[in-house]
Amino acid sequence: MSAEVSVSKILVIHGPNLNLLGQREKDIYGQTSLDKINGMLTELAKKHNVTLEILQSNHEGEIVDAIGGAKANHISAILINPAAYTHTSVAIRDAIAAVEIPAIEVHLSNIYSREDFRRTSLIAPVCRGQISGFGVGSYLLGLQGTIDLIKR
Ligand code: DQA
Repeated sequence: MSAEVSVSKILVIHGPNLNLLGQREKDIYGQTSLDKINGMLTELAKKHNVTLEILQSNHEGEIVDAIGGAKANHISAILINPAAYTHTSVAIRDAIAAVEIPAIEVHLSNIYSREDFRRTSLIAPVCRGQISGFGVGSYLLGLQGTIDLIKR
């Protein structure tokens, strides 16, 4: 008979156009593909005995649905790069506020050193923290922070 061990689950959300990483504006977003990033995240998660549920979507409603369903899906925390929706989506912000699951926002680029419209994040005020500007490192730091948060 094996004892059931409950493993924490983190929902990782990649917003629009992040499926194009490795091809898209490489000088800003780097050479690493999304598959590679997901591989690194999965490796880090394994080391800490947590599992990841990973979604990339170019559709705001799909992201809102994933966040809204997170509690029913036994998600402990959310790691999100909302991409362009960072600057526009009241719907994603409201979804995070509604579910009361800790969320961490990450960006590959430093959104504060770019165009004016990128300097405002509608998502950050409902997140526990934000990491911006470290390339792939933003995701790894963000995941480590998320794991520390749920293990506390
Ligand atoms: C981004 C920054 C956003 O402004 C942009 O729309 C993205 C990527 C980043 O990871 O640096 O698509 O979220």
